[in-house]
Amino acid sequence: MIVTSMVDLAVDLSALRHNYRRLRRLCAAGVKFMAVVKADAYGHGLLPAAQALAAEGADYLGVGSLEEGLTVRQAGLNLPVLLLLGILPAEAGQAVAAGLETALFRLDVAQALAAAAAAQGKKAGVHLKVDTGMGRLGLLPEEVLPFLEGLRSYPQLEVLGLTSHLAVADLEDKSYTFKQLEQFTGVLQAARDRGWALPLSHIANSAALWELKDAHFAMVRPGIMLYGSPPAPERQIPVLLKPVMSLTTKVLQVKRLPPGESISYGCTYTTTDWCRLAVLPVGYANGYSRLFSNRGEVLIRSLRAPIRGRVCMNLIMVEVSHLPEIQAGEPVVLLGQSDDALLTGDELAGWAQTISYEIYLALGNANPRRYVGE
Ligand SMILES: Cc1ncc(COP(=O)(O)O)c(C=O)c1O
Repeated sequence: MIVTSMVDLAVDLSALRHNYRRLRRLCAAGVKFMAVVKADAYGHGLLPAAQALAAEGADYLGVGSLEEGLTVRQAGLNLPVLLLLGILPAEAGQAVAAGLETALFRLDVAQALAAAAAAQGKKAGVHLKVDTGMGRLGLLPEEVLPFLEGLRSYPQLEVLGLTSHLAVADLEDKSYTFKQLEQFTGVLQAARDRGWALPLSHIANSAALWELKDAHFAMVRPGIMLYGSPPAPERQIPVLLKPVMSLTTKVLQVKRLPPGESISYGCTYTTTDWCRLAVLPVGYANGYSRLFSNRGEVLIRSLRAPIRGRVCMNLIMVEVSHLPEIQAGEPVVLLGQSDDALLTGDELAGWAQTISYEIYLALGNANPRRYVGE
């Protein structure tokens, strides 16, 4: 990544730790907490996030790939880690050697894990992934018992629990979620009746952690709320979360355009009056979506300034006719807080018809990250 000094992406680890503590309080004593740090901690940086959350007391880390699991181990973090996407058979040796647990839904992977565990004189911890209605990874509920029977020939596997994922737990209408929970509880009970203890079963993402105590089971598995955003923008969250990521820059040039001038590629905006314009050195190369064109806003001196015209690769233009005193070098907030004013990940997501998750990933992946609050 080529470092640009014109845009500053800051990740506030004290806010991350604050959010963890707030969420932890929503769980009953004894419920374990898996901090989801997959996809480079939603763009916030896997290792700094994992280290902060582990230091704060997270019981488990949820990562995506084997590479992320190995990165965590190489940094010396030795808390339990679950590979949420599972592994490929060829990755079994490395996963077992690093003591990484894996989501399991394929018999060939079970076989490979058992062989690797036998060769290394170890046990391989697995969490059986069940598809209770997400239509994504996992065994269908009716496939779980036969699959578990198949696992009896692999004593090297330690089946720690069942796991599933909720599709619409963030909606106010919980009827679909209740059906998913019913499926999950049903298959869990059926497996336990056949002698599987499954002590570490889990299904609760942020939305379920926050609203559905009955979904906590032995462990919760939140992601987005750790990073300071609600699972759905329209829902009020009762716990006070702090935004973790912020993005700022400084005005590169200020100019005045007469009425009738067009701004940026495609001439999609034409001035109707004299217009004071600030040119800012940020664009879609910084993960600042082109969909923000003519829709987004930035904060200058805590006041909103609207984007005029299309977002370019490295530049945007915002109107500052209402801020006659600002000059080149003036600080600008693109995401985050400016005194009482706030631009949230959800607001940016709304301009691009997406979700805060994607905003954080795009910005976090495209810019060097500066850590504060360590
Ligand atoms: C399997 C799994 N568990 C937990 C989470 C965390 O979800 P959220 O960020 O909505 O809390 C995710 C996120 O996508 C996931 O894929």
